[in-house]
Amino acid sequence: MYQNTKIDFELIKKYDRPGPRYTSYPTAVEFKELNEEVYKEELENILKDDKELSLYVHIPFCENACWFCGCNVIISHRTDVARPYLEYLYKELGLLKNILKDHKKIEQFHIGGGTPNFLENEDMKSLMEQIKTHFEFTKDAEISIELDPRHAFYDKLMLYKELGFNRVSIGIQDFDENIQKNINRIQDEKMLKEVVSNIRDLGFKSLNIDLMYGLPGQSLDSFKKTVEKTLELSPDRIAVFNFAYVPWLKPLQRKIDEALIPPSDQKLEMFKIAVEMFEEADYAFIGLDHFAKKTDELYLAQKSQKLWRNFQGYTTHKGVHLIGLGATSIGMLDRAYFQNYKTLRDYYKALDNDKLPIMRGYILNQDDIIRREVIMDIMCNLGVDKNLIGLKFGIDFDEYFAPELEQLKELESDGLINLKPDKIEINPVGRFLVRNIAIVFDIYSKAKEKPTFSKTI
Ligand SMILES: C[S@@+](CC[C@H](N)C(=O)[O-])C[C@H]1O[C@@H](n2cnc3c(N)ncnc32)[C@H](O)[C@@H]1O
Ligand code: SF4
Repeated sequence: MYQNTKIDFELIKKYDRPGPRYTSYPTAVEFKELNEEVYKEELENILKDDKELSLYVHIPFCENACWFCGCNVIISHRTDVARPYLEYLYKELGLLKNILKDHKKIEQFHIGGGTPNFLENEDMKSLMEQIKTHFEFTKDAEISIELDPRHAFYDKLMLYKELGFNRVSIGIQDFDENIQKNINRIQDEKMLKEVVSNIRDLGFKSLNIDLMYGLPGQSLDSFKKTVEKTLELSPDRIAVFNFAYVPWLKPLQRKIDEALIPPSDQKLEMFKIAVEMFEEADYAFIGLDHFAKKTDELYLAQKSQKLWRNFQGYTTHKGVHLIGLGATSIGMLDRAYFQNYKTLRDYYKALDNDKLPIMRGYILNQDDIIRREVIMDIMCNLGVDKNLIGLKFGIDFDEYFAPELEQLKELESDGLINLKPDKIEINPVGRFLVRNIAIVFDIYSKAKEKPTFSKTI
């Protein structure tokens, strides 16, 4: 039975220190320079197993600059800037196909950005044709796309449905007009409702909505209204992101009036409002910033201990090989991570030389693989089954993790977890602090003196 989350301000303050979000373990901070030879070897290695593919395609373009944006984007009003990019993407696809041949099918496909619906319909059509020419999709493949609702016109949505997309995600951020002005992201409520209604009418299987808290001008009341309006749209999943204000990394954020950004105790109150209102409406808090209906696969996977994380966040597809296509994309094979060049210049240059555009990556050792399993169970499945881990990796859990179990005792006495003989259980108080529990098993982040990651709040 689902137990509602407890947001305990005192404990959150005690544990509020920077920590990774574990879209991978080890995290991208550990990535080292790696060349395409290593990538090729690892790709050849995966031909020996029967796991299918998850393919991620990155479209970095957006038509308008949102001042809050922390993503890697290229702003342009001319949609034809995407054409050369797509040509290079097709070349990358061809190089991958040369190695993978017909051994692998796509079980999960995600196109993200930036803004994938920046592409003209004919370009999106040609992109999907290219993907389908190179790789076959499994019968029940999950095919998803991120959309900026301001450009999610009916003809585009219709095309996406025809092309086989079954899941969409839209960025709403906040419904309030004044807050939208403060972040240069004007999208009126009527239009947003129409986009959602079109998504429903066209029969997409699932809708996710992104919201943000901590935006300039937000108050507890305004945020409550945004949550209410979101609930009226009844999305299957909701992400409520903590606004990461990092003007030294994202100069566009300097356009934001810093004085309007709510202080951290108010931000915490906002998140508490989100948790309470979504749980009241029968959504489950999956973890970090994600909520899902209790009929949604995300929640069902968590209940059956099968949820996992990858570079796109929570996923129900554990045990597939994730391959990233396009600039900045990151792939996650069984025992190796690889990231493509970040700038278009470097990405194009590698492909001009007929090389897979790999910039850096990481090869996991056996200890990394064991720790990853434990960390992912904490982040995703609200507990660790010690016997399962022991059996899977041929270790005595209590012996292998003796120092970590000792360290966890303080977290147990604070009520975050229960340490049982056969499992570590995360309590409703600990659900918001999973990063702080997981970091105990992370030998790299613990060893670092300087914080590289954002705080829990
Ligand atoms: C690639 S965008 C989603 C698709 C589309 N570009 C849009 O904005 O609607 C990914 C999401 O990241 C979140 N995001 C962007 N910048 C952020 C920041 N600085 N801090 C926290 N979340 C952020 C937003 O909620 C946004 O919807
Ligand atoms: S929030 Fe979305 S639309 Fe806005 S700049 Fe970032 S990626 Fe582009």
